[in-house]
Amino acid sequence: MITRKSTLICLMTICSLGTIAQPKKAQPSKMDKFVTTLLARMTLDEKIGQLNLPAIGFDVTGPILSQGVEGKIEKGLVGGVFNTFTPNAVRKLQELAVTKTRLKIPLLFGYDVIHGHKTIFPMPIALSATWNLPLIQQTARAAAEEASADGLNWVFSPMVDIARDPRWGRVAEGAGEDTWLGSQIATAMVKGYQGDDLSLNNTVLACVKHFALYGAAEGGRDYNTVDMSERKMMETYLPPYKAAVDAGAGSVMSSFNEINGTPAAASGALLTDLLRKKWGFKGLVATDYTAIVELTKHGIGDVPEAGRQALIAGNDMDMVSEIYINELKKLVQAKKLDVAYIDLACRRVLEAKYKLGLFDDPYRYVNEDRAANEIMNAEKLALSKRAAAESIVLLKNNNVLPLNQQQKIAFIGPLVQDKRNLIGSWSGAGDWTKAISVWAGVNENYPSKKYTYTKGCNLIDDKDLMARLNRNGADLTLDAKSPADMIDEAVSAAKKADIAVVVLGESFMMTGEAASRSDIGLPENQKALLKALKATGKPIVLVLMNGRPLTLQWEDDNLNAIVETWYGGHRAGEAIADVLFGKYNPSGKLTMTFPRNIGQIPIYYSAKNTGRPIDPNEKYTSKYLDVPNTPLYPFGFGLSYAKFEYGAISLSKEVIKATDKLTATVTITNTGKYDGEETAQLYVRDVVGSVTRPVKELKGFKKLFLKAGESKTITFALDVYDLKFYDINMKYTAEPGEFQVFIGTNSRDLQTATFRLL
Ligand code: BGC
Repeated sequence: MITRKSTLICLMTICSLGTIAQPKKAQPSKMDKFVTTLLARMTLDEKIGQLNLPAIGFDVTGPILSQGVEGKIEKGLVGGVFNTFTPNAVRKLQELAVTKTRLKIPLLFGYDVIHGHKTIFPMPIALSATWNLPLIQQTARAAAEEASADGLNWVFSPMVDIARDPRWGRVAEGAGEDTWLGSQIATAMVKGYQGDDLSLNNTVLACVKHFALYGAAEGGRDYNTVDMSERKMMETYLPPYKAAVDAGAGSVMSSFNEINGTPAAASGALLTDLLRKKWGFKGLVATDYTAIVELTKHGIGDVPEAGRQALIAGNDMDMVSEIYINELKKLVQAKKLDVAYIDLACRRVLEAKYKLGLFDDPYRYVNEDRAANEIMNAEKLALSKRAAAESIVLLKNNNVLPLNQQQKIAFIGPLVQDKRNLIGSWSGAGDWTKAISVWAGVNENYPSKKYTYTKGCNLIDDKDLMARLNRNGADLTLDAKSPADMIDEAVSAAKKADIAVVVLGESFMMTGEAASRSDIGLPENQKALLKALKATGKPIVLVLMNGRPLTLQWEDDNLNAIVETWYGGHRAGEAIADVLFGKYNPSGKLTMTFPRNIGQIPIYYSAKNTGRPIDPNEKYTSKYLDVPNTPLYPFGFGLSYAKFEYGAISLSKEVIKATDKLTATVTITNTGKYDGEETAQLYVRDVVGSVTRPVKELKGFKKLFLKAGESKTITFALDVYDLKFYDINMKYTAEPGEFQVFIGTNSRDLQTATFRLL
């Protein structure tokens, strides 16, 4: 047996997978007794069956469609399924499990409920831009209410992967680049899904994914290799998973990627030593889609070996590969696998079912009345609209917004009347036909005869790309008119108008899984439209729908206003209309840096200073010859129709002891003409450390509403915890010395003060 010296060392090397660690003996709980008794009655086949998680139903995300699932359920070869929902469909499968199998063990029903179940909320990256934790929690709660009314008891969310490369399409599914904010959002989402009591019929098991470091794929290319220092893992990438575990997340999904030479799905160092032993996670681990069979392609061995390593590493459930049901028994018989691993994994599956109350009532989450009342009710749709409005980020405004109904407005663009894209990716149960388009939102709420609509261009013209996206349901078509005719029409509409509002962006299939892009600008045909419109000399408002930071240098240089609306969900069109016409004053702030060009990536605000920080006049400093070091829009950035001015920071003390609390106070004044909401952000820098520290790190924020002309004083409390990091010996500690504290409207425009920790 090889002992694992430490989790960290093991994460950096291939960890040997030796004998099993027995769970610690404590006083058995009711659940322990129940599960132990049940396990004692189970055959090896029945136990292995519990570890099988096939897909059945509406959609799949990988190459293998699970076959003959009903038959396997009847034979006790399935522990849970995913992609099936609606009370009717779930009832049918659950009936098979609890009437046809010997031990009548109910099934888990999972689904990718990522940003709402049937009522679709803005994409996670958009929700994070609200910087409104209670609101984010409410959306997760609403999603859980709907999902659980629709037969589901397990959601594959939240995705808490820190993402600093906007080429990666899955940045749309997460909370952006920041560790501290990402951790807060992870906690809020887990609480929203699981509530205080998992056994209630309106709470569901959350699944934290993708463990771990999936967002750090080299080059932003999905599923790609991750190679990372232990320090960076601990400091930047792992904390949001830990926060979700600490919030009580009932399950974790292991990730597709390798980390420093070991695929995460085969990493005992990750899934057992770190997750369970160090962090104390007691729940269920499932693999990602076909991840076990993919271990063979990673090159760790043949199919049986992949199954053996995945189980021993700590994956309790095998999602879609069906390697567990095909190989584990043979491995046990060949004495290559200790049956105790199967017992332990099975125990965790049964425990999850116990916690959900499924042994009391396997139909607990199947309720037609609840489905009728909960799903897409007025309250949830109103929440969707509110979340969409709060997620919108005003990137530029040259005094052209808000609009008014007296203006002649030319609405132009393939996304003006579009509904298909509004609900974004990962909205499988959402009905896009129920989405409210920008055109409908504007005309229903701000009617006028002075508006015109012209399409202006196709969403994309690139036929190869279209074909690839359409294969997965993008529903893209080419207009019968030629691109030149479409542009001409738009130009003439713009010429007749006072202002053009141009709604452009990415197809929703250009973001999400397997949607990495090497060029993150607007598609070329959309840029051509913008250039032609610019030549009219009319003011132009660009309304964007997309799921990642885009490169928008030309747009920022040439257009009058830019409004980032992401994919806002079912009520996006109304929310966008409210922002455009000033009923809702935009308050969203970016949670990912927007680069000026692709070459700047990776670019994130909490960078290190280097020994030669940029000096434009000095050749030998850290910079590019052809682009500034600064991003186009920094982390935390977002404008308002109001104007917020920050006074100087006043600190309660200039010198603190480790046991002290420090307060930092600023006064913010709304010097503009509109009432508005501001998110004030607090960052900290440890000036000298035993290891180098980032130039700033977010440690707090406050949202506050200020009427025009009003001032408010806000106070942030800081303590030693906010100053801690992994020191030169990887000890999590705060080091004495000088600290800077910054408060301001984004990570760039900040007031500064300093204090000293004794
Ligand atoms: C994705 C997961 C998802 C799973 C099940 C995978 O391809 O990576 O995020 O939960 O499919 O649909």
